[in-house]
Amino acid sequence: MKFSSVLAAGVFSTVVATTEDKFKFERLDKKNALLLVVDLQVGLFQLARDLDPTLYRDQMIAHAALAKVFDLPVVMTTSAETGPNGPLPKEILEMYPHSPLVMRQGEVDAWDNKEFRDAVKAANKTQIILAGVTTDVCTTFLALSLREAGYSVWANVEASGTTSALVRDVSNDRMAKAGVHTVSMFSIACDLMRDWRNTPGAKEMIPWFDKYFPVWGYLARAHHAAASNGTILPGEAGLI
Ligand SMILES: *[C@@H]1O[C@H](CO)[C@@H](O)[C@H](O)[C@H]1NC(C)=O
Ligand SMILES: *[C@@H]1O[C@H](CO)[C@@H](O)[C@H](O)[C@H]1NC(C)=O
Repeated sequence: MKFSSVLAAGVFSTVVATTEDKFKFERLDKKNALLLVVDLQVGLFQLARDLDPTLYRDQMIAHAALAKVFDLPVVMTTSAETGPNGPLPKEILEMYPHSPLVMRQGEVDAWDNKEFRDAVKAANKTQIILAGVTTDVCTTFLALSLREAGYSVWANVEASGTTSALVRDVSNDRMAKAGVHTVSMFSIACDLMRDWRNTPGAKEMIPWFDKYFPVWGYLARAHHAAASNGTILPGEAGLI
């Protein structure tokens, strides 16, 4: 009797726990997302040594450009930009001449700055996409503060940079343990798009990918070239 009631209680609690722990896939909603550009400054760029600099420059710009194609609000911030950290790249500033740019004079964690917090709150979104230099400081501190403040956070791991692969990996793990979605740019873009038939969908995103994600753009170019004027080579016959 005793055994069976223990067993029954055990089974019952397992069932309850399973129900409570049911995985919920939290998806990005382009109507509820805000994009942050955090300290992607031309001076701090020198600290991003975990990625090839040409690739990293392109991925920073691509991060910023996500908001353009999905029409998301943007808040930008810099840390002590008149010193060695420097300004944001002009390519990003020119994309968003009317978005808030909060120039922090000392706060390392952007969330410690009231003007920045107010700009984020004014956007009235609960899903936040961010990237920064460095991953372990600017991105992680803000991501953890945003989680604590109740936001859902997506960290674009390709657009944050830091001093080494080791530091990047422990920082992304730290964020993930706090419930931050540590994701690729392509993952963010496809989550926001949801369906190629949406707007933005294939019509808008294929040219965008061609510019910011050439692995997809060149695939589309090859397909277009083949479909419009391609020739099947002798050895290819029978492959499909
Ligand atoms: C903020 O967003 C919520 C949900 O979309 C909406 O109901 C509310 O009116 C918004 N508040 C402001 C001040 O825009
Ligand atoms: C199609 O391919 C041929 C070579 O196979 C080339 O001479 C021609 O200019 C191409 N036409 C177009 C429209 O690209």
